[in-house]
Amino acid sequence: MKQLIVAIDGPSGAGKGTVSGAVARSLGYRHIDTGAMFRAVAWKASHDGVALDDDTAVAALATRADLVVEGGVVRIDGHDVTRAIRTAEMDRMVPTVARQPGLRAVLVDRQRAMGRDGGVVMEGRDIGSVVFPDADVKVYLDASEAERARRRLGDQAYAAQGAEQAAVAQAIAARDQADRTRATAPLTLAPGAVYIDTTALGIEQVVAQVIALVKAKL
Ligand code: DC
Repeated sequence: MKQLIVAIDGPSGAGKGTVSGAVARSLGYRHIDTGAMFRAVAWKASHDGVALDDDTAVAALATRADLVVEGGVVRIDGHDVTRAIRTAEMDRMVPTVARQPGLRAVLVDRQRAMGRDGGVVMEGRDIGSVVFPDADVKVYLDASEAERARRRLGDQAYAAQGAEQAAVAQAIAARDQADRTRATAPLTLAPGAVYIDTTALGIEQVVAQVIALVKAKL
């Protein structure tokens, strides 16, 4: 059977992670969370004392890094950062590295290498627009701001930090604004992408819709 490339983009809290994971499992595909790559690089820069806005240094760090984001574990240069990258502090730090063109070029190369043989569900902000503009299936998941904040609060990693709904909603809005307005590879609805508003939908319904789109291409 053909091994497709499935691109899933959208703002924070739209359900990309859960949906991408379930779709990948159901199809026997790999699930690649590109947001975790940006988060891991931000974590390592901070750990090494590299200024987050020093694109040359951050891009060099990413070029050298031994970075693994498959199988539910995120590891960079031997550090298991699976939990450490999901904090409110990381949420604030990561848009600074994510807007830098040098770093993005390094990560886009890695993402293309990881996905080019297909059999992959790749989630992020620019997968259907920049990384794989010719992806077989492109989906843009969205949800209302209030619903996205509610989902983020239900996320165990964040709930454990005693986050409050108002603060979470504000942080999500600020991050989305940064992701949508940056000059390089902003979050956008890619040409050919199927827009799904998940506000009133359950996970299973969204997963079923995405799988139907994939099956139609097989
Ligand atoms: O999906 P996430 O919340 O883990 O993403 C973390 C940050 O990285 C977020 O600010 C958006 C950015 N990002 C990006 O710019 N491009 C991607 N392909 C994935 C994430």
